[in-house]
Amino acid sequence: MSQDHLRLAFIGCGSIARRHVVAMKDLVDRGRGGFQVVALCDANLDSAETLAIAVKEQLGGTPTVYASYEEMLSTEKLDGVDICLPHGLHHTVAIACMEAGVDVLCEKPIGVSVRAGRLMEQAAERTGRILSIAVPHRRQPGQRVAHWALNESGLMGSPLTFFHHYTRPPETRDPNQPLPPRVVWRRNRLMSGGGMTLDSGFHYCDSIRYLLGDVDKVYAEMRELQSGYPVPVSERPEDTIYVTFTFKSGLVGAWNWSVAAPGEPRASVVFYGSEGSLEDTTPSRFRIFHLFERRPEQNESGQLVRQDGSILQMHELEALYREQLDEAQSELLFPGGSTDGFAIEIWEFLELLRGNRTQPEVDAAEGIRSLALGDAIYESAFTGDVVRVDDILSGARRTFQESIDEHWGL
Ligand SMILES: NC(=O)c1ccc[n+]([C@@H]2O[C@H](COP(=O)([O-])OP(=O)(O)OC[C@H]3O[C@@H](n4cnc5c(N)ncnc54)[C@H](O)[C@@H]3O)[C@@H](O)[C@H]2O)c1
Repeated sequence: MSQDHLRLAFIGCGSIARRHVVAMKDLVDRGRGGFQVVALCDANLDSAETLAIAVKEQLGGTPTVYASYEEMLSTEKLDGVDICLPHGLHHTVAIACMEAGVDVLCEKPIGVSVRAGRLMEQAAERTGRILSIAVPHRRQPGQRVAHWALNESGLMGSPLTFFHHYTRPPETRDPNQPLPPRVVWRRNRLMSGGGMTLDSGFHYCDSIRYLLGDVDKVYAEMRELQSGYPVPVSERPEDTIYVTFTFKSGLVGAWNWSVAAPGEPRASVVFYGSEGSLEDTTPSRFRIFHLFERRPEQNESGQLVRQDGSILQMHELEALYREQLDEAQSELLFPGGSTDGFAIEIWEFLELLRGNRTQPEVDAAEGIRSLALGDAIYESAFTGDVVRVDDILSGARRTFQESIDEHWGL
């Protein structure tokens, strides 16, 4: 492998793959290049051709386009593959890549179910290949700062509880227009592994574990309100959920949201420590999922209020956080000064390929734990029981996942 020119490919060339190319350009602009996107694969060749144009314009070079990943793997000499596929395809394709000797960066969630994730984990162990799960939000400054504020800064005492609440009215859509393909597969539980709780919600599950540690048990209710009356979730994807988490530390927190609550929108996302509170006030449609989100066009916002009444705005908190990082830590966390979580996760993958790092921050085991938290929420909503996350991890409870596993032969 030439360390200067890592040969990369995408499998799946839809919306998030386009965002990854933007992130790669951010790295190149910061002098963090040394890679080439040499091949693209998508079952829809138009999507692959469109991404090829973006790669050429933003990164240079003309990648070869494939409709079949098997053909791409047998033709190309690749160092790493970036998998940006619907969830039900992650395990089959990631395992094929690793068995072909190619390292894998796989979009979240790791797989369509815990069993799918376990097969990927076993393949990584068997082949000795890298398997890194693409999780941008915990890598952005907002969550790094929140993690420090809650756990290390001493500014808030020790973590106590949280109340996260968000409601917005349903989006209106022309019923005569067909749903775009990226929405169609997300509404099919067998392909997506779940609804919003497991899709955008995977980010929340990963973040809350990153910020506060592992969850012991959950109690959840889910509803579908869009149809105009509260339907308990069975065949229709949820648009409204109510969750109580009990963490292994004993801390209890609440995550309640609806994307189909008519009338006035409301949001309140607050963490409490024994000596103060930390609020996320970033004005984003996805704030309940993407905690302390930073976008290129917009910094995250929020404030820490201490019991003595003193207030630190998010940018002041970030300055304090950054002050205590040395140069090496800053470069590791924010390579070349990047604050784009997508660029940072891709840079970590490149550094793993070069042997400059040994362990992905979100490896298979970590990805499975965040997935299991999402699945515990469904298990509780479907059975009415309080569910232990360890029972989802061990496979002792799988009422919700069983039909998904059966569909994929897992
Ligand atoms: N990190 C984030 O913030 C974020 C945001 C959006 C999506 N995602 C994740 O990215 C992944 C893809 O989501 P998306 O929004 O880009 O979906 P998408 O529907 O826009 O793109 C998926 C692509 O996969 C292609 N595809 C389907 N079957 C294929 C096959 N057998 N072989 C090759 N290509 C095939 C489709 O044609 C499509 O172009 C998912 O895992 C999703 O959860 C992450």
